[in-house]
Amino acid sequence: GKGEYEHFMRKEIDAQPEALRGTLAGRVDGDDVDLDTLPDGTFEEIDHVHLVACGTSYHAALAASRQLVRAGLPATAYRASEYHDLQPVDESTLVVAVTQSGETADTLSALRRAHEADARTVAVTNVVGSTVSREADDTLYIRAGPEIGVAATKTFTSQVVALSLLTHRVASDSAAATVREDAAEFLAALEALPEAVEDLLATTEARSVSDAHIGRDAHFFIGRDFEYPVALEGALKFKEITYEHAEGFASGELKHGPLALVTPETTLYALLTGDRGEETLKNAEEAKARGVNVVAVAPEGMAVGGVADEVLRVPDTHPDVVGLLANVQLQLVSYYTAHGLGRSIDKPRNLAKSVTVE
Ligand code: M6R
Repeated sequence: GKGEYEHFMRKEIDAQPEALRGTLAGRVDGDDVDLDTLPDGTFEEIDHVHLVACGTSYHAALAASRQLVRAGLPATAYRASEYHDLQPVDESTLVVAVTQSGETADTLSALRRAHEADARTVAVTNVVGSTVSREADDTLYIRAGPEIGVAATKTFTSQVVALSLLTHRVASDSAAATVREDAAEFLAALEALPEAVEDLLATTEARSVSDAHIGRDAHFFIGRDFEYPVALEGALKFKEITYEHAEGFASGELKHGPLALVTPETTLYALLTGDRGEETLKNAEEAKARGVNVVAVAPEGMAVGGVADEVLRVPDTHPDVVGLLANVQLQLVSYYTAHGLGRSIDKPRNLAKSVTVE
């Protein structure tokens, strides 16, 4: 049940440290990972990767594709419903189906196409015994615990972490890839994530920041690099539960069109964490000059004074991991905005937890 919580979504946001402990348990060993269902050598023959997923799971897949590319493997995340024009797929292709429920029709259909083309397939899912887990060659469970709210929260965070471990396994196995030099630091940051989320949850000011922006005409989210999928995810969550106009953009794209939408009635959530946060700060400044209201989601110690109207701080950690903490702030922003507007948070209109038709 919901216990002392008013909504499952809020409970599930708070459950992220525990969900992450489940995702990580027994799987990290110094600078290596141990995935029992995917032993060393599983991916020796793989030289490129496709990830297929919908909605929030697509954003997790997009984040993972960046890690794979960094490991030297060509990797592309596809929206599962757009996967019909298969790129060349054969036994050297790994197709990763990312789906919390394991029942999403578009994702299952993409997986079936991949199988027909003889790809190697892995399911990344939360639900034991789900259709995807029965159909894929192998399954990596995210072990986040059941998620009831239609808005995916803890499962997004756990999916990104599980995919990070999978990336490490693929990079270690594949002759075409190289394991990142900072593997030990990266994996240690993943292991420290549950505590970092706890710190953030104990200190967040997301409620008062959200309240200050309720009623704006539009809510935009920008980020680059790993923070780009986080911007897309922030906007999806926001529109899903607040019913307000929200869009996520790559920071660098603002001046190629979206800036025309910006007015003093717009709020811009700028993701300033990660290696390229300073560049996004410049983009936020450009929007600020056109009158936009800026909420900075920024690391401790970053000076944002001249640009940001409000700041949501994020604890310091590895630059490729910190975006997950920024995302927790955005989950809370969506929740409190929807709450302020009196929305049906756990069951938004027109949506279902699992979409079993194409
Ligand atoms: O169960 P899945 O991960 O396959 O679901 C995919 C999407 O339907 C899902 O992530 C949807 O976008 C969420 N409601 C977003 O919060």
